[in-house]
Amino acid sequence: MPGEWNFVVPLSDTTVRVAVGHLSECRLAPVDRTAIITEPGAWAVGRDCVLEWARSFSATVEDPLVLPAGDAAKELDRLGGYYAHLAACRLDRSSRILVVGGGAALDVGAFLAATFLRGLRFVLVPSTLLSQVDAALGGKCGINFLGAKNQIGLVVQPELIAVDPDWLRSEPRAARDSGLGEVWKTAWLAGGELWARCQTAGRLTDRVELAWTIDACLRFKAEVVCQDPLEKGRRAILNLGHTIGHALEGAAQAGGIALPHGVAVALGLLAELKPTADEVEWQMLATLMRASGLPTEPPSGIDYGVARDLLSRDKKRAGGMIVTAVVQAPGQVRLESRPVAYFADLLRLFSRSS
Ligand SMILES: NC(=O)c1ccc[n+]([C@@H]2O[C@H](COP(=O)([O-])OP(=O)(O)OC[C@H]3O[C@@H](n4cnc5c(N)ncnc54)[C@H](O)[C@@H]3O)[C@@H](O)[C@H]2O)c1
Repeated sequence: MPGEWNFVVPLSDTTVRVAVGHLSECRLAPVDRTAIITEPGAWAVGRDCVLEWARSFSATVEDPLVLPAGDAAKELDRLGGYYAHLAACRLDRSSRILVVGGGAALDVGAFLAATFLRGLRFVLVPSTLLSQVDAALGGKCGINFLGAKNQIGLVVQPELIAVDPDWLRSEPRAARDSGLGEVWKTAWLAGGELWARCQTAGRLTDRVELAWTIDACLRFKAEVVCQDPLEKGRRAILNLGHTIGHALEGAAQAGGIALPHGVAVALGLLAELKPTADEVEWQMLATLMRASGLPTEPPSGIDYGVARDLLSRDKKRAGGMIVTAVVQAPGQVRLESRPVAYFADLLRLFSRSS
Protein backbone atom coordinates (compact mmCIF):
# COMPACT_ATOMS: atom_id res chain seq x y z
CA MET A 1 0.00 0.00 0.00
CA PRO A 2 1.37 3.46 -0.82
CA GLY A 3 1.92 5.71 2.20
CA GLU A 4 4.55 6.95 4.65
CA TRP A 5 6.80 4.48 6.44
CA ASN A 6 10.19 4.30 8.15
CA PHE A 7 13.13 1.97 7.98
CA VAL A 8 16.25 1.65 10.13
CA VAL A 9 19.66 0.82 8.66
CA PRO A 10 21.76 -0.97 11.28
CA LEU A 11 25.32 0.30 11.73
CA SER A 12 28.19 -2.13 11.48
CA ASP A 13 29.88 -4.00 14.33
CA THR A 14 33.50 -3.19 15.09
CA THR A 15 35.91 -5.35 17.06
CA VAL A 16 38.47 -3.55 19.22
CA ARG A 17 41.58 -5.46 20.27
CA VAL A 18 44.04 -3.90 22.69
CA ALA A 19 47.03 -6.19 23.24
CA VAL A 20 50.79 -6.07 22.96
CA GLY A 21 52.38 -7.76 19.94
CA HIS A 22 49.11 -9.22 18.76
CA LEU A 23 48.69 -8.36 15.06
CA SER A 24 49.46 -11.89 13.87
CA GLU A 25 46.84 -13.22 16.31
CA CYS A 26 44.03 -11.08 14.88
CA ARG A 27 41.97 -13.42 12.74
CA LEU A 28 40.24 -11.83 9.77
CA ALA A 29 38.08 -13.42 7.08
CA PRO A 30 40.21 -14.32 4.03
CA VAL A 31 40.14 -11.95 1.05
CA ASP A 32 41.66 -12.05 -2.42
CA ARG A 33 43.25 -8.63 -2.36
CA THR A 34 44.40 -6.17 0.30
CA ALA A 35 45.56 -2.59 -0.13
CA ILE A 36 47.62 -0.89 2.57
CA ILE A 37 47.44 2.84 3.31
CA THR A 38 50.14 4.06 5.64
CA GLU A 39 52.60 6.87 6.28
CA PRO A 40 56.40 6.98 6.61
CA GLY A 41 56.85 6.90 10.42
CA ALA A 42 54.58 3.93 11.06
CA TRP A 43 55.68 2.04 7.92
CA ALA A 44 59.36 2.31 8.87
CA VAL A 45 58.76 0.47 12.14
CA GLY A 46 55.84 -1.82 11.29
CA ARG A 47 56.34 -2.82 7.66
CA ASP A 48 57.40 -6.43 8.25
CA CYS A 49 54.76 -7.37 10.80
CA VAL A 50 51.95 -5.67 8.82
CA LEU A 51 52.96 -7.43 5.60
CA GLU A 52 53.22 -10.81 7.34
CA TRP A 53 49.80 -10.32 8.91
CA ALA A 54 48.20 -9.14 5.64
CA ARG A 55 49.58 -12.18 3.79
CA SER A 56 47.98 -14.45 6.40
CA PHE A 57 44.46 -13.47 5.24
CA SER A 58 44.97 -12.12 1.73
CA ALA A 59 46.09 -13.91 -1.43
CA THR A 60 47.47 -10.67 -2.87
CA VAL A 61 48.87 -7.76 -0.87
CA GLU A 62 49.40 -4.65 -2.97
CA ASP A 63 52.29 -2.20 -2.63
CA PRO A 64 51.40 0.34 0.07
CA LEU A 65 50.10 3.82 -0.57
CA VAL A 66 52.48 5.83 1.61
CA LEU A 67 50.86 9.16 2.48
CA PRO A 68 52.92 12.20 3.48
CA ALA A 69 53.49 12.38 7.26
CA GLY A 70 51.07 14.40 9.37
CA ASP A 71 48.33 16.76 8.22
CA ALA A 72 50.00 17.28 4.83
CA ALA A 73 48.27 13.99 3.96
CA LYS A 74 44.88 15.63 4.55
CA GLU A 75 45.07 18.14 1.66
CA LEU A 76 42.25 17.97 -0.88
CA ASP A 77 44.44 18.23 -3.98
CA ARG A 78 46.25 15.00 -3.05
CA LEU A 79 43.09 12.87 -3.21
CA GLY A 80 43.27 12.25 -6.98
CA GLY A 81 46.67 10.62 -6.58
CA TYR A 82 45.43 8.48 -3.69
CA TYR A 83 42.40 7.22 -5.63
CA ALA A 84 44.64 6.54 -8.66
CA HIS A 85 46.80 4.29 -6.46
CA LEU A 86 43.73 2.39 -5.19
CA ALA A 87 42.42 2.04 -8.77
CA ALA A 88 45.78 0.58 -9.83
CA CYS A 89 45.43 -2.00 -7.04
CA ARG A 90 42.37 -3.41 -8.91
CA LEU A 91 40.35 -3.65 -5.69
CA ASP A 92 36.79 -4.92 -5.79
CA ARG A 93 33.96 -5.31 -3.31
CA SER A 94 35.59 -8.35 -1.75
CA SER A 95 38.85 -6.51 -1.03
CA ARG A 96 40.08 -5.07 2.26
CA ILE A 97 42.03 -1.92 3.07
CA LEU A 98 44.45 -1.83 6.00
CA VAL A 99 45.16 1.64 7.32
CA VAL A 100 48.30 1.88 9.44
CA GLY A 101 49.55 5.07 11.04
CA GLY A 102 48.84 8.04 13.27
CA GLY A 103 45.61 10.02 13.39
CA ALA A 104 46.25 11.86 10.14
CA ALA A 105 46.79 8.65 8.16
CA LEU A 106 43.75 7.03 9.77
CA ASP A 107 41.58 10.05 8.93
CA VAL A 108 42.62 9.92 5.28
CA GLY A 109 42.78 6.14 4.97
CA ALA A 110 39.30 5.61 6.42
CA PHE A 111 37.97 8.40 4.18
CA LEU A 112 39.46 6.73 1.10
CA ALA A 113 38.18 3.31 2.15
CA ALA A 114 34.70 4.72 2.79
CA THR A 115 34.46 6.51 -0.55
CA PHE A 116 36.41 4.39 -3.05
CA LEU A 117 33.97 2.10 -4.90
CA ARG A 118 31.34 3.55 -2.51
CA GLY A 119 33.07 1.95 0.43
CA LEU A 120 35.22 -1.09 1.10
CA ARG A 121 35.77 -2.93 4.37
CA PHE A 122 38.74 -1.59 6.26
CA VAL A 123 40.85 -2.16 9.36
CA LEU A 124 42.61 0.50 11.43
CA VAL A 125 46.01 -0.07 13.02
CA PRO A 126 46.77 3.08 15.03
CA SER A 127 50.47 3.76 15.65
CA THR A 128 50.54 6.84 17.91
CA LEU A 129 49.12 7.45 21.38
CA LEU A 130 46.59 9.94 20.02
CA SER A 131 45.34 7.52 17.39
CA GLN A 132 45.21 4.63 19.87
CA VAL A 133 43.25 6.46 22.55
CA ASP A 134 41.02 8.49 20.27
CA ALA A 135 41.26 8.83 16.49
CA ALA A 136 40.90 5.13 15.67
CA LEU A 137 37.53 4.76 17.39
CA GLY A 138 34.34 6.56 16.54
CA GLY A 139 34.30 6.50 12.76
CA LYS A 140 35.05 10.16 12.05
CA CYS A 141 37.32 10.54 9.06
CA GLY A 142 38.09 13.16 6.45
CA ILE A 143 40.39 15.86 5.19
CA ASN A 144 41.13 19.53 5.83
CA PHE A 145 39.90 22.31 3.53
CA LEU A 146 40.80 25.98 3.17
CA GLY A 147 43.00 25.83 6.26
CA ALA A 148 40.23 24.51 8.51
CA LYS A 149 40.41 21.05 10.06
CA ASN A 150 38.32 18.07 8.94
CA GLN A 151 35.88 20.12 6.85
CA ILE A 152 35.16 17.30 4.40
CA GLY A 153 34.45 13.88 5.79
CA LEU A 154 32.01 11.36 7.12
CA VAL A 155 31.39 8.87 9.91
CA VAL A 156 32.07 5.26 8.98
CA GLN A 157 33.06 2.26 11.10
CA PRO A 158 35.95 -0.16 10.44
CA GLU A 159 35.61 -3.92 10.85
CA LEU A 160 38.53 -4.04 13.31
CA ILE A 161 40.63 -1.63 15.36
CA ALA A 162 43.89 -3.40 16.23
CA VAL A 163 45.65 -1.51 19.02
CA ASP A 164 49.15 -2.56 20.04
CA PRO A 165 50.81 -0.24 22.58
CA ASP A 166 54.22 -1.50 21.40
CA TRP A 167 53.92 0.75 18.32
CA LEU A 168 54.35 3.70 20.68
CA ARG A 169 57.94 2.78 21.58
CA SER A 170 59.10 4.63 18.47
CA GLU A 171 56.55 7.45 18.29
CA PRO A 172 58.11 10.94 18.18
CA ARG A 173 57.98 13.09 21.33
CA ALA A 174 55.54 15.53 19.70
CA ALA A 175 53.15 12.66 18.96
CA ARG A 176 53.28 11.53 22.61
CA ASP A 177 52.59 15.12 23.76
CA SER A 178 49.67 15.22 21.39
CA GLY A 179 48.27 11.93 22.65
CA LEU A 180 48.48 13.08 26.24
CA GLY A 181 46.19 16.01 25.38
CA GLU A 182 43.49 13.62 24.17
CA VAL A 183 44.01 11.30 27.17
CA TRP A 184 43.45 14.17 29.59
CA LYS A 185 40.39 15.31 27.66
CA THR A 186 38.90 11.83 28.02
CA ALA A 187 39.95 11.69 31.67
CA TRP A 188 38.13 14.97 32.41
CA LEU A 189 35.00 13.67 30.74
CA ALA A 190 35.16 10.25 32.41
CA GLY A 191 36.38 11.39 35.84
CA GLY A 192 36.79 8.59 38.42
CA GLU A 193 39.69 6.17 38.16
CA LEU A 194 40.90 7.40 34.77
CA TRP A 195 41.44 11.01 35.92
CA ALA A 196 42.87 9.82 39.27
CA ARG A 197 45.45 7.57 37.56
CA CYS A 198 46.33 10.23 34.97
CA GLN A 199 47.47 12.54 37.72
CA THR A 200 50.25 10.17 38.74
CA ALA A 201 50.90 8.50 35.37
CA GLY A 202 52.56 11.58 33.84
CA ARG A 203 53.78 10.82 30.31
CA LEU A 204 52.59 7.18 30.51
CA THR A 205 56.08 5.76 30.45
CA ASP A 206 54.99 2.71 32.48
CA ARG A 207 53.86 0.04 30.01
CA VAL A 208 51.15 -1.44 32.24
CA GLU A 209 49.74 2.02 32.95
CA LEU A 210 49.93 2.87 29.26
CA ALA A 211 47.94 -0.21 28.16
CA TRP A 212 45.37 0.34 30.93
CA THR A 213 44.92 3.99 29.97
CA ILE A 214 44.51 3.24 26.26
CA ASP A 215 41.88 0.62 27.03
CA ALA A 216 40.05 2.90 29.49
CA CYS A 217 39.97 5.80 27.00
CA LEU A 218 38.67 3.56 24.21
CA ARG A 219 35.99 2.01 26.40
CA PHE A 220 34.77 5.45 27.50
CA LYS A 221 34.69 6.73 23.93
CA ALA A 222 32.99 3.56 22.65
CA GLU A 223 30.25 3.93 25.22
CA VAL A 224 29.58 7.53 24.14
CA VAL A 225 29.77 6.72 20.41
CA CYS A 226 27.39 3.76 20.74
CA GLN A 227 24.77 6.03 22.33
CA ASP A 228 25.15 8.67 19.64
CA PRO A 229 27.17 7.49 16.62
CA LEU A 230 26.39 10.48 14.37
CA GLU A 231 26.85 13.21 17.00
CA LYS A 232 23.26 14.32 17.25
CA GLY A 233 23.54 14.78 21.01
CA ARG A 234 25.78 13.41 23.75
CA ARG A 235 28.73 12.58 21.47
CA ALA A 236 29.42 16.32 21.29
CA ILE A 237 31.01 16.06 24.77
CA LEU A 238 34.00 14.46 23.02
CA ASN A 239 34.69 17.83 21.40
CA LEU A 240 35.78 19.24 24.75
CA GLY A 241 38.89 21.36 24.14
CA HIS A 242 38.52 21.06 20.36
CA THR A 243 36.71 24.30 19.53
CA ILE A 244 39.56 26.40 20.89
CA GLY A 245 42.08 23.68 20.05
CA HIS A 246 41.21 23.58 16.33
CA ALA A 247 41.29 27.39 16.12
CA LEU A 248 44.76 27.49 17.71
CA GLU A 249 45.99 24.59 15.58
CA GLY A 250 44.71 26.17 12.36
CA ALA A 251 46.17 29.59 13.23
CA ALA A 252 49.49 27.96 14.05
CA GLN A 253 49.49 26.07 10.75
CA ALA A 254 48.63 29.26 8.84
CA GLY A 255 51.64 30.96 10.47
CA GLY A 256 53.99 28.03 9.85
CA ILE A 257 54.23 27.37 13.61
CA ALA A 258 54.43 23.82 14.96
CA LEU A 259 51.51 22.99 17.25
CA PRO A 260 50.55 19.28 17.33
CA HIS A 261 46.82 18.55 17.37
CA GLY A 262 46.62 17.10 20.88
CA VAL A 263 48.76 19.87 22.38
CA ALA A 264 46.32 22.36 20.85
CA VAL A 265 43.50 20.30 22.40
CA ALA A 266 45.23 20.41 25.80
CA LEU A 267 45.46 24.22 25.51
CA GLY A 268 41.83 24.24 24.38
CA LEU A 269 40.96 22.23 27.49
CA LEU A 270 42.56 24.84 29.72
CA ALA A 271 40.62 27.62 27.99
CA GLU A 272 37.27 25.85 27.73
CA LEU A 273 37.34 24.53 31.32
CA LYS A 274 38.46 27.81 32.86
CA PRO A 275 35.04 29.54 33.19
CA THR A 276 33.16 26.54 34.63
CA ALA A 277 35.54 24.05 36.21
CA ASP A 278 36.47 23.77 39.85
CA GLU A 279 39.59 25.95 40.27
CA VAL A 280 41.55 23.31 42.23
CA GLU A 281 40.92 20.64 39.57
CA TRP A 282 41.77 23.14 36.81
CA GLN A 283 45.08 23.91 38.53
CA MET A 284 45.77 20.17 38.74
CA LEU A 285 45.42 19.93 34.97
CA ALA A 286 47.76 22.88 34.45
CA THR A 287 50.26 21.32 36.88
CA LEU A 288 50.02 17.95 35.14
CA MET A 289 50.65 19.61 31.77
CA ARG A 290 53.72 21.45 33.08
CA ALA A 291 55.06 18.35 34.87
CA SER A 292 54.66 16.34 31.65
CA GLY A 293 56.56 18.93 29.63
CA LEU A 294 53.55 20.34 27.78
CA PRO A 295 53.11 24.10 27.37
CA THR A 296 50.26 25.90 29.12
CA GLU A 297 50.45 28.79 26.61
CA PRO A 298 50.31 28.55 22.81
CA PRO A 299 53.60 29.17 20.99
CA SER A 300 54.43 32.82 20.40
CA GLY A 301 53.61 34.24 16.99
CA ILE A 302 50.04 32.87 16.79
CA ASP A 303 47.80 35.32 14.94
CA TYR A 304 44.68 35.46 17.13
CA GLY A 305 42.79 37.23 14.33
CA VAL A 306 43.21 34.07 12.24
CA ALA A 307 42.15 31.94 15.23
CA ARG A 308 38.97 34.03 15.65
CA ASP A 309 38.24 33.77 11.93
CA LEU A 310 38.58 29.98 12.13
CA LEU A 311 36.23 29.94 15.13
CA SER A 312 33.65 31.82 13.08
CA ARG A 313 33.85 29.00 10.51
CA ASP A 314 33.89 26.11 13.01
CA LYS A 315 32.08 23.15 11.42
CA LYS A 316 30.03 22.52 14.59
CA ARG A 317 28.17 25.87 14.24
CA ALA A 318 24.39 25.83 13.97
CA GLY A 319 22.64 29.21 13.80
CA GLY A 320 25.68 31.04 15.19
CA MET A 321 25.83 28.71 18.21
CA ILE A 322 28.18 25.85 19.08
CA VAL A 323 27.19 23.01 21.39
CA THR A 324 29.94 22.57 23.94
CA ALA A 325 30.74 20.37 26.93
CA VAL A 326 30.51 22.24 30.20
CA VAL A 327 32.51 20.44 32.88
CA GLN A 328 32.35 21.48 36.52
CA ALA A 329 34.66 18.78 37.80
CA PRO A 330 36.06 15.61 36.18
CA GLY A 331 33.13 13.36 35.30
CA GLN A 332 30.48 16.08 35.78
CA VAL A 333 29.62 17.02 32.21
CA ARG A 334 26.64 18.60 30.51
CA LEU A 335 26.10 20.03 27.04
CA GLU A 336 25.21 23.67 26.46
CA SER A 337 24.86 25.85 23.39
CA ARG A 338 27.07 28.95 23.36
CA PRO A 339 27.48 31.73 20.75
CA VAL A 340 30.66 31.77 18.69
CA ALA A 341 31.57 35.04 20.47
CA TYR A 342 31.81 33.09 23.77
CA PHE A 343 34.69 31.07 22.34
CA ALA A 344 36.37 34.15 20.88
CA ASP A 345 36.35 35.52 24.46
CA LEU A 346 37.96 32.34 25.77
CA LEU A 347 40.89 32.92 23.41
CA ARG A 348 41.72 36.01 25.47
CA LEU A 349 43.12 33.67 28.14
CA PHE A 350 46.09 33.37 25.79
CA SER A 351 46.01 36.41 23.50
CA ARG A 352 46.29 38.88 26.41
CA SER A 353 49.65 37.46 27.41
CA SER A 354 50.99 37.27 23.85
N1 LIG B 1 39.12 10.99 13.53
C1 LIG B 1 39.21 11.35 14.79
O1 LIG B 1 38.31 11.05 15.59
C2 LIG B 1 40.41 12.12 15.26
C3 LIG B 1 40.56 12.37 16.63
C4 LIG B 1 41.68 13.07 17.05
C5 LIG B 1 42.62 13.49 16.12
N2 LIG B 1 42.45 13.23 14.80
C6 LIG B 1 43.45 13.68 13.82
O2 LIG B 1 44.66 12.98 14.10
C7 LIG B 1 45.75 13.75 13.58
C8 LIG B 1 46.89 13.76 14.58
O3 LIG B 1 47.28 12.42 14.80
P1 LIG B 1 48.67 12.01 15.50
O4 LIG B 1 48.87 12.80 16.73
O5 LIG B 1 48.68 10.56 15.56
O6 LIG B 1 49.76 12.58 14.50
P2 LIG B 1 50.17 12.20 13.01
O7 LIG B 1 49.25 11.23 12.40
O8 LIG B 1 50.34 13.52 12.33
O9 LIG B 1 51.60 11.51 13.21
C9 LIG B 1 52.64 12.21 13.86
C10 LIG B 1 54.00 11.75 13.38
O10 LIG B 1 54.29 10.48 13.93
C11 LIG B 1 54.86 9.63 12.95
N3 LIG B 1 54.55 8.27 13.41
C12 LIG B 1 53.34 7.67 13.48
N4 LIG B 1 53.44 6.49 14.11
C13 LIG B 1 54.75 6.32 14.41
C14 LIG B 1 55.47 5.30 15.07
N5 LIG B 1 54.86 4.23 15.61
N6 LIG B 1 56.81 5.44 15.20
C15 LIG B 1 57.42 6.54 14.70
N7 LIG B 1 56.80 7.56 14.09
C16 LIG B 1 55.46 7.44 13.95
C17 LIG B 1 54.23 10.09 11.68
O11 LIG B 1 55.04 9.77 10.57
C18 LIG B 1 54.14 11.59 11.88
O12 LIG B 1 55.35 12.19 11.50
C19 LIG B 1 45.20 15.13 13.24
O13 LIG B 1 45.05 15.24 11.85
C20 LIG B 1 43.83 15.13 13.91
O14 LIG B 1 42.91 15.97 13.24
C21 LIG B 1 41.37 12.55 14.36
